Amino acid sequence: MPEYAFIGRSNVGKSSLINMLCGHKGLAKTSSTPGKTQLINHFLINDNWYLCDLPGYGYAKVSKKSREKWEKMIKDYILNRENLMNTFVLIDSRIKTQKIDLEFMLWLGKNDVPFSIIFTKSDKLKQRELAKNIKAYEEELFNYWEEIPPFFITSAEKKTGKENILNYIDSINPLFQK
Ligand code: GTP
Ligand code: MG
Repeated sequence: MPEYAFIGRSNVGKSSLINMLCGHKGLAKTSSTPGKTQLINHFLINDNWYLCDLPGYGYAKVSKKSREKWEKMIKDYILNRENLMNTFVLIDSRIKTQKIDLEFMLWLGKNDVPFSIIFTKSDKLKQRELAKNIKAYEEELFNYWEEIPPFFITSAEKKTGKENILNYIDSINPLFQK
């Protein structure tokens, strides 16, 4: 079945977003302490597609060794998962471009892995600030690519962006070939 991965820095809101998309609060475990999700967790949706919660990267308190372990686990997963249709890279809408996110997206691009961007925690910003941050992000990405990936603005708190993301997934599902 087709699969969609959710990835991003630790604490960016991956598990919260997954719960919001599924309408099921306690499904993916969330925490205000970074590093909560440590395994690759799969959720089967409507007996039809898989959603995949990945551990976050860039958590300052982990050792170099566990960081390397993370990198290998995630990169192996992304490069070898044959049913992976799209990777959603989550970005905190309050924070300006971070090297670690850019590097990760450049790595995806280099390896021809299709991805989209999800801006999270949009409820924490005023509308005007949010628009300014997103615009700055887009401009930064145009330094690297002529075309930038689709992006979505979300809030797990306010349930913003749910329809758009689910419709997007629905539009890709038929492209899956067994
Ligand atoms: P790891 O599994 O540790 O990598 O974290 P994660 O990316 O899965 O983040 P998680 O969903 O656990 O959320 C981290 C913190 O951010 C929690 O305290 C959430 O309540 C909070 N949070 C997540 N999404 C939102 C949002 O849309 N709005 C607000 N205000 N807070 C959010
Ligand atoms: Mg998590």
